[in-house]
Amino acid sequence: MCGIVGAVAQRDVSEILIEGLRRLEYRGYDSAGVAILNNAEIQRVRRLGKVKELADAVSESPAPGGIGIAHTRWATHGEPSEINAHPHVSGSDIAVVHNGIIENHEALKQQLSAKGYEFVSQTDTEVIAHLVADHFKQTNDLLKAVQLAVKELDGAYGTVVMHRDKPEELVVARSGSPLVVGKGIGEMFVASDQLALLPVTRQFLYLEEGEVARVERTCVEIYDVDGNSIDREFEESTVQHDAGDKGPYRHYMLKEIYEQPTAISNTLEGRIINGDINSEIFGVNASDIFDKVEAIQIVACGTSFHAAMVTKYWCESIANIPCHVEIASEYRYRVSYTPKNALFITISQSGETADTLAALRLAKEKGFMASLSICNVPGSSLVRESDLAFMTRAGAEIGVASTKAFTTQLTGLLMMVVCIAKQKGMAKEQVSQLVASIESIPGEIKHALEKDSLIEQMAEDFSEKHHSLFLGRGDQYPIAMEGALKLKEISYIHAEAYAAGELKHGPLALIDHEMPIVVVAPKNELLEKLKSNMEEVRARGGQLYVFADKQAAFKEESGVKVVSIDSDHDVTAPIIYTIPLQLLSYHVAVIKGTDVDQPRNLAKSVTVE
Ligand code: G6P
Repeated sequence: MCGIVGAVAQRDVSEILIEGLRRLEYRGYDSAGVAILNNAEIQRVRRLGKVKELADAVSESPAPGGIGIAHTRWATHGEPSEINAHPHVSGSDIAVVHNGIIENHEALKQQLSAKGYEFVSQTDTEVIAHLVADHFKQTNDLLKAVQLAVKELDGAYGTVVMHRDKPEELVVARSGSPLVVGKGIGEMFVASDQLALLPVTRQFLYLEEGEVARVERTCVEIYDVDGNSIDREFEESTVQHDAGDKGPYRHYMLKEIYEQPTAISNTLEGRIINGDINSEIFGVNASDIFDKVEAIQIVACGTSFHAAMVTKYWCESIANIPCHVEIASEYRYRVSYTPKNALFITISQSGETADTLAALRLAKEKGFMASLSICNVPGSSLVRESDLAFMTRAGAEIGVASTKAFTTQLTGLLMMVVCIAKQKGMAKEQVSQLVASIESIPGEIKHALEKDSLIEQMAEDFSEKHHSLFLGRGDQYPIAMEGALKLKEISYIHAEAYAAGELKHGPLALIDHEMPIVVVAPKNELLEKLKSNMEEVRARGGQLYVFADKQAAFKEESGVKVVSIDSDHDVTAPIIYTIPLQLLSYHVAVIKGTDVDQPRNLAKSVTVE
């Protein structure tokens, strides 16, 4: 989704801004732009399409300057076009970049038009530029003008404003969309994601909700929503500098699929000691909270929601605790029941997903006993606003389609279920067995990755198809859902997942020779039931693509292709069977020639509703 970079320095900042945008490309966008103060003139360059096109345009007509702002836009209001790309301006004085949605933009537009301000784009952002310009006329102070302007905005914003007459300062404001300030030596930077700034600094501070800040080369003044001055220290980031490097891989997604054994080893590092897991890895009070917990509510979006669904199966079968899961955008807008002594869990790669964050804030009002975030980004909003947090340590995930973030989330969630079960009295021996299964995940994933070339061959059959079905049962049903999501996200093939027992209640009507059906079939107590479901498909001419345990004894025959997956433990099988489905989608997308890492219309981090 949209990305912001800004800089104020004594050197030319154009290359810093463009490099920052490159590092935010993974979030998904359709146009990009930059505004730099050059010889007391705001020079603006915008392009539809990729950052490369913007970079080429900037190098053709360089606009060197020590202060500037830049943006990648993911269209919400108004089509993707140069005219709708940010920065937006008010006359020749003010330039603005904005992430989020201004909900009352129509009303503000009417008021500002009546005052003579001219609107040229279809965006909601342009009102911010004119509103700040209007207040600046009265105050001649950019900070005050922004403080007054944001009081009139409804909706979500992370915004950065610059003024032609204020060549030493950027003013930034945050409500609902993250913003981070980075400190260099005698220079200062802002961005919507610290990844954008890693080449220039490792010192960061995050703005909190409602805050406005004046950012100058050597100092930052922060004010809360009531205008009180706030003291906040910069902190050293632990994120890797080279997180944006593709290495020898053709796509980030493939790199991230192959990184999973290491990523999960990182998730586990220092968290399993002598065959045991201490609840404190989830936060200092986790042990007390897990002791008291009587119910769990999990809320998430997209792939993270599928991790929630697997956790429901684990929670109820291992820890005997009722667990409800819900999509965040549904949960936040319905009247729901809050159980007694319930733990509210959010799962999120980015920690900034707007619906998940809104659901957490609602849960706090509703009186949940405590909140826990399972997240990949330290310092993100969800982490900061939750009572407990568990960092998945997947490392930066650049591919829009989530892979290693998902399997590391599942690993953390399984550890959490084991901790709760332990505190509810699970026998030591059983805890040790579960912990041993968790420790074997990285090795088992390595074995699954060895099936890559077989899966690549299988993928050939999918490239001409328009529809597909994914089947699983029990805790493999959410894995089938995740497999279907991956395929539709990156190959644009319509893919639906069903719990195999539901087949005869509708989807059987879809089966014919043109329909590939992917089945995840580990050897477990549901295997015989699943086999019957598969027979129902075969009898109607469906083409089966089966990922199964060797011991499940599936034979390759006409209409049935099988790849065997070794998974030694029932409990971790959902994690292991995820791998072949990721590889299948990846290869289908490569054969189809789609944009694997930045699929059309999708964004990595969805910071608007
Ligand atoms: C977007 C991404 C998905 C992700 C979802 C939730 O749709 O493309 O990959 O699963 O957001 O994101 P989160 O950061 O909250 O896990």
